[in-house]
Amino acid sequence: MCGIFGFVTRGDRALGDILLGAARRLSYRGYDSVGMATIDGAGRIDLRKDVGKVDDVAGRLHFENMSGQRGLLQLRWATFGAPSQVNAQPHLDSDGDLVGAHNGNVVNNVELRERFIAEGLTVRSTNDGESCVHAVELFMKRGAGMIDAIRQAHDILEGDYAFVIGAADGDTLYAFKKGSGLVAAIGDGFTCCSSDLPSILPLTDRILRMEDGEIAILTADSIELRRVGDLSRIDRRPQVFTGGMEAAVKGGYPHFMLKEIHEQPKAVAELTRLLDASPHVGRMVAKMQAARHLYYVGCGTSYHACLIGAVYAARIAGRPVVPILAPQFVAQYGPTLGKEDVALFVSQSGETKDVLNALELAERRGATALGLLNVIGSTLMHKSRTYLPLACGYEISVPATKTFLNQVAVFLYLALRMGGQPTDLLRRLPDLLSETLDTSEREVGRLLAAFDGRTDFYQLGYGLTYGVALEGALKLKEITYAHCEGMLSTEFKHGPLSAVDDGYPVIFVVGPDDVPVLISAVNEVTSRGGRAIAVAEPDPRLVGNVDDLLPLPKAGALLNPILATIPLQLLSYRLSLARGLDPDFPRDLSKTLTVD
Ligand code: AGP
Repeated sequence: MCGIFGFVTRGDRALGDILLGAARRLSYRGYDSVGMATIDGAGRIDLRKDVGKVDDVAGRLHFENMSGQRGLLQLRWATFGAPSQVNAQPHLDSDGDLVGAHNGNVVNNVELRERFIAEGLTVRSTNDGESCVHAVELFMKRGAGMIDAIRQAHDILEGDYAFVIGAADGDTLYAFKKGSGLVAAIGDGFTCCSSDLPSILPLTDRILRMEDGEIAILTADSIELRRVGDLSRIDRRPQVFTGGMEAAVKGGYPHFMLKEIHEQPKAVAELTRLLDASPHVGRMVAKMQAARHLYYVGCGTSYHACLIGAVYAARIAGRPVVPILAPQFVAQYGPTLGKEDVALFVSQSGETKDVLNALELAERRGATALGLLNVIGSTLMHKSRTYLPLACGYEISVPATKTFLNQVAVFLYLALRMGGQPTDLLRRLPDLLSETLDTSEREVGRLLAAFDGRTDFYQLGYGLTYGVALEGALKLKEITYAHCEGMLSTEFKHGPLSAVDDGYPVIFVVGPDDVPVLISAVNEVTSRGGRAIAVAEPDPRLVGNVDDLLPLPKAGALLNPILATIPLQLLSYRLSLARGLDPDFPRDLSKTLTVD
């Protein structure tokens, strides 16, 4: 979480628009406060920061008129210290000679603050980004030069983080990476660094990848990389990034979420092409087939994909798989893991701390760690022995949509391969998804009234649709702030049924083979006055029993969970808008959860 960006150019110039543009493109990483600092050729630091989203704060503080030779910015998603002006980043050191900002987490922040105060430094906030600045200040006050002070700061700053820092004197910015995302880049007459590529790509495509434990020294014309341990130089050339920026802008849709929902037919087509051509698939399948125990491990939406993936593996390939939430994997199976076991770690961002913790444990116990991820260059990509990309392009909206759908598609593909079956089935998906999108866009609007004034719902599924119901419920919670519980349909009668009153909406996600099982749960709801809404292929047995149907094309049991995802995504999206909310940036949530 949080996003940082630094920019160095020749001489003073207007920097407001450059920094503001970068901030907007990074805003998916943090949006409870935002700050910018510029340093001009005379060594004057202009620091402006406040609570709020980028454009609100920019409007109030007039970021557009900031200028200087160097600039840095930060977007915050609060972990240490409440969202407040004083906790907003960047931060100054005690004398206002250094300015810096971080993303990630300094886990010994509390002890460090006490130490800095005891050493006579002026600590203004409770935010751990300030500790990064004071750590450098501490060693500079003892006589170290900037780069050596960063080396020593690294020794006392515990956790996973990246930071960018500059001194009033000089013409340089320093960026350091340890466990959090950071890339540097070179343009014509400038260099820059950022937590992520979207903020950089409109400026330049010459990207310099950074590894953990590396310091980048940025001047207007060059970037020098050094190892933090011994400050030795690293010879690494920038590479031209060939991916496009298209996905980082909304492309005519009112929200990234809607754009990303509509990108799904294309994303799954790309994915299928990639899987067909990938040598990694065969390697992964062989490892998964040979495993003593096979685990699918993830969090949130990615975990829901694991649930569906495990049903595919059992049904199609006869392969038992344990789908499990990453922290529970550690708690429950940590002691039993061995080198015969295989765990597939699933994470859109590839940076989720819970998932990386589980991966590290699996590696320590000798198990094989495989990865399924969307963000190329992410920590999960580097740490897993073999990985498959989700090939979705950037997913900006906080609610995961296209990455979930492609995760489920990969699981279907892997199950077919494990079962020695052809994978042609997936080629039908782009057309079926487009058809489902068209139908659902028409049908979902009709249903919104059923949710008026309601703050509690259920979504029920069974077998392959169990994970779909959980995911549908998560999406609703995440972007409508309502309480929606996903549940196995057969469990509803064991307790939650008592919540049903007149008009109480219950959504049933029904696979074509599961109608007989679901029908009793449907009737238990309707006979108590509840409103049963089915997401299903039209089936006369169902149509006569439910109040509403969100129809899916006839595609069979294996593709059904993928198609059923669409109306549920659109329903959440429309309900979020109907409640006056911003589905792209739900309150208190971040796209990338790099904390425990
Ligand atoms: C999904 O809409 C959520 N944003 C969240 O549950 C997410 O899936 C979870 O935090 C895991 O993220 P990851 O896939 O990047 O690991």
